[in-house]
Amino acid sequence: MPTSNSPLLLAIETSCDETAVAVVRGSELLASEVASQIKIHQAYGGVVPEVASRNHLITLRPVIDAALAQAQVSISEIDAFAATRGPGLATSLMIGASAAKGLAVGMGKPFLAINHIEGHLLSPFYGTPEGVRPSVGLVVSGGHTLVVEIRGVGHYRLMGQTHDDAAGEAFDKVGKLLGLPYPGGPNVNRLAREGNPRGHAFPRSMIDSGDFNFSFSGLKTSVRYLLPKLETLNLPDLCASFQEAVVDVLVAKTLSAARATGHRVIAVSGGVSCNTRLREKFQQACSKAKIQLLVAEPSLCTDNAGMIGYVASLRFSQGETSPLTADIDPNLKLVA
Ligand code: KG4
Ligand code: ZN
Repeated sequence: MPTSNSPLLLAIETSCDETAVAVVRGSELLASEVASQIKIHQAYGGVVPEVASRNHLITLRPVIDAALAQAQVSISEIDAFAATRGPGLATSLMIGASAAKGLAVGMGKPFLAINHIEGHLLSPFYGTPEGVRPSVGLVVSGGHTLVVEIRGVGHYRLMGQTHDDAAGEAFDKVGKLLGLPYPGGPNVNRLAREGNPRGHAFPRSMIDSGDFNFSFSGLKTSVRYLLPKLETLNLPDLCASFQEAVVDVLVAKTLSAARATGHRVIAVSGGVSCNTRLREKFQQACSKAKIQLLVAEPSLCTDNAGMIGYVASLRFSQGETSPLTADIDPNLKLVA
């Protein structure tokens, strides 16, 4: 895509508790602002939907202004406005989608409604010279764990998914069991750095199931049952052992999906792809199998609007726009 001639897009992401706005020109990220509400929700041990939506309402306007300032463009230069359509919290999605529609109407420009999971899925390709390529994608976030065959933009085949908890959800629930602040994922990762991953033998659920599906709720239950039996709790060992069990299954299943499809590229995305052990073990396994590993930089792994802007510009360049009647969908799937 010739970057300098590409349309300028403003994208809004408010599917959960991050108020995020990005300005993109084709595959160039001109600005990506994220106002996190983590501190507000920490007091409740998780995201409270109504609190999230009220805060989006307050924060969105200044975050839009900050993104435009960062990109050094004025709102009148924007060629199209995009927002996350789903999946996510209905009351949060509504704020971003309504704002993008309002801007599109006000400025007389097109609107694009974007799938949040597709945003994560394609984020590892952002800024790569070749763009989106045939590959196997693993999306691991707080709400989703899925393995997808990527044939091209908009052409996806679901190969497997979790039967119960998402990988990030398992990290967050175990973090809560251990009394760590919300969200558990980054805190478990931090403590695990000092721990022994073989300290406790946790199950690698479904690792030999022969398909590409996952189950993490049994692992979480194993941690819950183990805790009262421990005379002394070695937090780093416990975190490292739990983390290792999650990572082993994710790596093994994704590599076997790559073998099954013959693809030589694996794209890992979503908040859990920030995990340093996950990155390390994926890199080792991919190098051994001579597969190219693509993982976005951490700021593009957790929820952000850059990934929404990227998908929006790929779709806009194919002539796609969305009607203003396009509704949000809290349960939107990647593949219908
Ligand atoms: O993609 P994301 O920001 O939001 C969703 O779409 O869900 O993912 C958030 C999830 C949370 O569960 C969080 O604990 C997890 O990503 N996460 C991590 C790490 N950083 C974020 N999990 C493990 N290790 C990390 N370093
Ligand atoms: Zn997400």
